Amino acid sequence: MPPFEDLTDDDLARISLPAVTFLHGGTVIDADGPRRADVLIRGGRIEAVGLQGLDVPRRAQVLDATGCVVAPGLVDLHTHLRQPGREEAETVESGSRAAALGGYTAVVAMPNTEPAIDCAAVVKEVQELGRDACCEVAVAGAITVGRAGTQLAPMAEMAALGVRIFTDDGTGVADTRLMRRALEYSSTVSRPDGTGVLLAQHCEDASMAAGGAMHEGEWSSRLGIPGQPHEAEELMVMRDLALARLTGTPIHFLHLSTAGSVELVRRAKAAGQAVTAEATPHHFTLTHAAVAGYDPVFKVHPPLRTEADVQAIRRGLADGTIDAIATDHAPHAAEAKEAPFDEAAPGMLGLETALALALTELALPIADVLALMSWRPATIAGLADQGRPVAAGEWANLCVVDPAATWTVDATRLASKSTNTPFAGRQLTGKVRHTVWRGEAVVVDGEAQR
Ligand code: DOR
Repeated sequence: MPPFEDLTDDDLARISLPAVTFLHGGTVIDADGPRRADVLIRGGRIEAVGLQGLDVPRRAQVLDATGCVVAPGLVDLHTHLRQPGREEAETVESGSRAAALGGYTAVVAMPNTEPAIDCAAVVKEVQELGRDACCEVAVAGAITVGRAGTQLAPMAEMAALGVRIFTDDGTGVADTRLMRRALEYSSTVSRPDGTGVLLAQHCEDASMAAGGAMHEGEWSSRLGIPGQPHEAEELMVMRDLALARLTGTPIHFLHLSTAGSVELVRRAKAAGQAVTAEATPHHFTLTHAAVAGYDPVFKVHPPLRTEADVQAIRRGLADGTIDAIATDHAPHAAEAKEAPFDEAAPGMLGLETALALALTELALPIADVLALMSWRPATIAGLADQGRPVAAGEWANLCVVDPAATWTVDATRLASKSTNTPFAGRQLTGKVRHTVWRGEAVVVDGEAQR
């Protein structure tokens, strides 16, 4: 076969060659810090990183990274892809495209689908759909059968297929004895590569939160909407920290929203407990005052809280108490949101706005934002090929971000099948220019390539 650069367009059309991509002019930032470097990608992997001596074929796809940060692709610990069962709201295809546009090269697909992902057969079905996706789709499994909270799901058979994260997200596991058993069971289960699994809790005490459609406080009183107090979340954080201690098992807390929860996790970490936590962009940017117009686009679980909570989440992200920014991307069809506030479905889109919100709203260096959105969540999710250093030999899972680009969120132009973003019309700074997944440029100049 002639050298790559000597192939004609006809040759290339006939044969399938590992693509060569060259990211030129950017600053690499990964867990090892920043440096000016170009990145050469061949056959899915990073071949070389540096400023000199890179052997760039004439036919390489050159992606301009001038003024940009070249980083490991983002990893979302918390994405609702809605398949199977709610394809009118999102599919693996549309959701993974939204993810790629947001700079993600991997998402964890939540199991509150219909049916729930609670056994090997449904895990396989979603994994199969993930093969055609625009990023890695790591499937999460349910803790209990049907997420009904009464009987443990067969975690071992799901772990055997590589499932790492187990959660009944959408609800918490209410039964304390069952949660204890789930933690004990989880510590006996392992994945084919020998690594363990992790339980992730949606912290909401069901009886205390029952009927609550927003945060219980000044705004719920004014608006006459039943509320959920801080304690509905914090009681379950407290209980699960106790259960995780009792069983000697790690635990992950999903979408923390209150100052009290952050403080509980801070103390547990200081005492040496193996606990991790995530927070969403909406919980560090919006308060319950947003509900003032009764617009269901601002309905979400856990609910938008107070300004003091927003500030506490920001402090938790800054000081490492909260390990990761996760989107809780929760697409809903228009019919599900076009309802009175207390009857509307809870949830907000997140994948295409998360990075820009973090860069715009958190007073953190970009390297810290990337740690919260790439390599730390990759470790929590147990994704061996994600969040890795930008170095020769690694899989080319990368995002290229222009930190100075400004743009305005337009709900009608998002790749998601749904439009329920609470950030429509907001001006943000920081934009994903390119995303490369396993060496393929799935986003180029802000446009999805498939
Ligand atoms: O607001 C939410 N929506 N919170 C959740 O925990 C679930 C999610 C959904 O699936 O729509």
